[in-house]
Amino acid sequence: MRVPVIPSQSKGALQSLLSLGEVRPPSASLGTTAFDLLHEDCVRGMAKLPAASIDLVVTSPPYNLGIRYSEFSDRADRTGYLRWCKTWAAEIARLLKPDGSFFLNVGAAPANPMFPHELVLELRDLFVLQNTIHWIKSISIEEQDGEIVSRGHFKPINSHRFLNDCHEYIFYFTKTGRVELNRLALGVPYQDKTNIARWSHTGGHDRRCRGNTWFIPYETIQSRDKERPHPATFPVELAENGIRLHGVEKVTTMLDPFLGIGNSAIAAQRCGVPRFIGFEIDETYLAEAKRRIG
Ligand SMILES: C[S@@+](CC[C@H](N)C(=O)[O-])C[C@H]1O[C@@H](n2cnc3c(N)ncnc32)[C@H](O)[C@@H]1O
Repeated sequence: MRVPVIPSQSKGALQSLLSLGEVRPPSASLGTTAFDLLHEDCVRGMAKLPAASIDLVVTSPPYNLGIRYSEFSDRADRTGYLRWCKTWAAEIARLLKPDGSFFLNVGAAPANPMFPHELVLELRDLFVLQNTIHWIKSISIEEQDGEIVSRGHFKPINSHRFLNDCHEYIFYFTKTGRVELNRLALGVPYQDKTNIARWSHTGGHDRRCRGNTWFIPYETIQSRDKERPHPATFPVELAENGIRLHGVEKVTTMLDPFLGIGNSAIAAQRCGVPRFIGFEIDETYLAEAKRRIG
């Protein structure tokens, strides 16, 4: 997602963009993120960080669905796996500030549809589930004229029982369930412009909350080994959405305990987040994350 460039606009126009969360305040400098990308088990690494020191966590753990990582074994027994999830999630709960945000991306497998829900139940003593967001990877929409338009990356499965899986979950956890979000930072224009004047909460702006579906296709790549050398990534834009929804100007320190090849780190860099901490146990993935942030 691009950071908007503001040409010689009036101060009023800039102020109104700022109030919509579209840009970082002029005092913030983009591209100056201080990174701590560490080759360490995240539970051990997080234990060394001070309590209530993190504003925002955006992460995606291994799903235990048999993904072939180069180091990590993604086939633990379900009970042991959920217990492990609670261990790292408890560290996140300790580190998160009272008004912090925690975006947890998980997917399911057709034969294992309960996994995301079991995980949420496992974490219910630690966090309040404030929003459930659906990351839509591909979609087909019928236009008014009857034309069917398909967008995104479609990964077919060969089955007579299961539908192709085109989405994953992003669970938005907070400590209290009362954290205020910058909903309009991801806002979209009204389809029916008469709503702008009709509803006073618009303040005259052509912008409404996008809702809880994020259509984020994977970028088209030519070579997986060279351009996306990891079996289970999320797009940079997914993490960027988390930063913008929490409020770019409210994020001083962001954490991703399962860094992979660093898509959350790139998002932090693009948004000008001052400090980013990431843990990854696989040296190859970590090296790629470091290479990508330059
Ligand atoms: C789903 S992937 C995350 C991918 C990342 N979101 C990206 O876009 O590149 C999970 C990652 O967690 C790493 N991992 C597994 N166990 C870990 C642990 N205990 N501490 C830190 N990293 C771990 C795996 O090596 C894998 O790269």
